[in-house]
Amino acid sequence: MLAEKVKNFAMNYSNVETWIAPSFLAIPAVSRVIAGSAVKLGSQTIHGEPKGAFTGEVSCSMLKEFGGTFSLIAHSERRWVLGEIDSLVAKKAVGALAQGVTPLFCVGESLEERERNLTHEVIRLQLSALIEVLPKNSLSQVIIAYEPCWAIGTGKVPTIEAITGAHACIKKVCMEATGSSPNAILYGGSVTPENFEEILAAPDVHGGLIGGASLKAETFTRLIEIASKRH
Ligand code: PGA
Repeated sequence: MLAEKVKNFAMNYSNVETWIAPSFLAIPAVSRVIAGSAVKLGSQTIHGEPKGAFTGEVSCSMLKEFGGTFSLIAHSERRWVLGEIDSLVAKKAVGALAQGVTPLFCVGESLEERERNLTHEVIRLQLSALIEVLPKNSLSQVIIAYEPCWAIGTGKVPTIEAITGAHACIKKVCMEATGSSPNAILYGGSVTPENFEEILAAPDVHGGLIGGASLKAETFTRLIEIASKRH
């Protein structure tokens, strides 16, 4: 099993935090495999309400039953394909946080927005919708991922300058609004073992949110190895 290979490899790289967010259906099996290790388990989305009738949704307590500690929220496919709007994803993040699940909150522009030079404006709006409803002093418990939609699964990656600019923008918006930084800022979108070292070396890039390259043990483990050399 992929998770088993990753867990065994990650054991030798204790300076790297390895987190896995499989589909809900794989969570029970992955949970058993990584039990007792430092690898963290999370979901790809979550429902924010602790109680109520929400047929088909998975709650934080259901995730926590299997040892889940974090959830992606507002991944670009949730926003753009599944229609999750700013106010909804912000509510999910607040709900997750209140229930002890770390939100890994994604922001990022579409190709059209990038072409219109709106990247930083989009980041500011998406983050502001979150910060507006987040309890005071809690941003330091939230992880932000910068994921330009057009870079996800396409093999296209922004320049290092563009990544640096977007991460600086995230930090600035957070500092100005709350006086604090998020727990970490990750970059996601077509990360591979070939480009990860350079991306990780950029200022304020604290890690990666990896899709395709996490699906094979060979590339996932190479990414862990590269991250272990980050200074
Ligand atoms: P990718 O996916 O690494 O395959 O581009 C990233 C993501 O889905 O967040």
